[in-house]
Amino acid sequence: MNKVKALVLFGFMLLALRVAAQNSPAQAYHEPFRPQLHFSPKAHWMNDPNGMVYYNQTYHLFFQYYPGDIVWGPMHWGHAVSTDLVHWKELPIALYPDSLGYIFSGSAVVDYKNTSGFGKNGKIPLVAIFTHHDPKGEKGWKNDFQNESLAYSLDNGNTWTKYSGNPVLKNPGLRDFRDPKVMWYESEGKWIMTLATFNHITFYSSSDLKSWKKESEFGATIGAHGGVWECPDLFPLKLQDKTYWVLLVNLNPGGPNKGSATQYFIGQFNGNKFTPVDNNTRWLDYGPDEYAGVTWSNTPNRRLFLGWMSNWLYATKVPTSTWRSATTLARELNLVTYNGSLFVASNPVSELSKLNAGGVVRGPLKINGEYDLSGKLAKPTGQYVVKLQTAKQQDFKIELSNTQHQKLIVGYDKAMNQYYIDRSTAGIADFTEGFARKYFAPRLSSNENIQLTLVVDKASVELFADGGATVMTCIFFPAEPLNKVSVLADKNLELKSLSLTGLNSIW
Ligand code: FRU
Repeated sequence: MNKVKALVLFGFMLLALRVAAQNSPAQAYHEPFRPQLHFSPKAHWMNDPNGMVYYNQTYHLFFQYYPGDIVWGPMHWGHAVSTDLVHWKELPIALYPDSLGYIFSGSAVVDYKNTSGFGKNGKIPLVAIFTHHDPKGEKGWKNDFQNESLAYSLDNGNTWTKYSGNPVLKNPGLRDFRDPKVMWYESEGKWIMTLATFNHITFYSSSDLKSWKKESEFGATIGAHGGVWECPDLFPLKLQDKTYWVLLVNLNPGGPNKGSATQYFIGQFNGNKFTPVDNNTRWLDYGPDEYAGVTWSNTPNRRLFLGWMSNWLYATKVPTSTWRSATTLARELNLVTYNGSLFVASNPVSELSKLNAGGVVRGPLKINGEYDLSGKLAKPTGQYVVKLQTAKQQDFKIELSNTQHQKLIVGYDKAMNQYYIDRSTAGIADFTEGFARKYFAPRLSSNENIQLTLVVDKASVELFADGGATVMTCIFFPAEPLNKVSVLADKNLELKSLSLTGLNSIW
């Protein structure tokens, strides 16, 4: 080979190596603020989780996706899969907009009995039920631009075919008529669709997923109504031997800490009508950054939830570069009772412990002043779990900070009987007004001591207290990871135990 040829070949090899490095997962998933414990799309805009269904040992996560920009646009269903709810693999887009409109939020079911007739040659169909949103109709001030449609998959969710008879449920004249969540109602052998219809929920039933009958309405005069009702979910949960029904209703705006949030009702559902046990408004997550959360279908013996980790107040402005938004951690839901009231408790799925990278456990101990826990950790990983258990009810603060004096403070205020997260000095906040704030959540448990778990990622914290009945999710944008973890207390703080566990990245 002559010298010129050798040089050209060498040049090509260098170029190929650069392109490979740019496209490698290490590059793509390690930009500033990129979550290391949470799913986020490799590039572009994401909002609500959609069509979550478990089938053939695979958890499917579809999501509202716009592949053309890092702001909201014509909606597609992006697609990711996991076998453990912790590690995610992004797959090609599952559903594209078409002549009926954008593909808005919805759900997916396993049609075991092939009630829809989509199954062929013994293959069980997965059926997605979603909203077709016609942007032309919306702009033309029509009132029927959101309708419910179907798509099905005969290859375990890999590829999807839209039903030729779409839409299957036509809009009666409501500007907000969307986000169908469908479940199989075993005792009557029929499908139930829970639909967000402006300021209330409408329940429909069907024997074949194609023709729907209105059953009842719920909620116009109960619950929080600071904004429009969106992305509902209905499912049974057991407390000891008794079955209750939980109705999740996402609300935007009007959340307890401004903007988007998930409220829920506990009651009974008889196949026709939902009746709540009381008129209380309950919140699944009091933080500013959990929205549009719903649960997986087809997960026997477990109820698994995941939300969008952002808020419509500023989701399109957050300072990430190539993508926008992530999901929350997958959480397992259970019922608990405090002071005679029922609550839904959320806790991170136990599978998260697969990421454990070692840590420190202390206690019992007394703290007066500052106790630096991270100093005891061999190597900071940038993402970690903090667990704290007090001996009695006492004020405390957990300060997460970096070398640039940016800090996030999580604490408990005994006088107010509230938890709080203060992100006002945790990093970049000037992209929107009011981001730098302190957020509060009530303590619901009456136990004598406090147990709290924090899961901290590069740009988020999730707080689980009161056995999961009080949860707060909060995002922030520090110049470098908040790797220093200290507990601060004025008076002698008595802790039964305190631990810090580093977590490996999922990418
Ligand atoms: C909730 C939501 C849904 C809608 C989707 C559109 O965040 O507004 O009601 O289906 O986002 O992307």
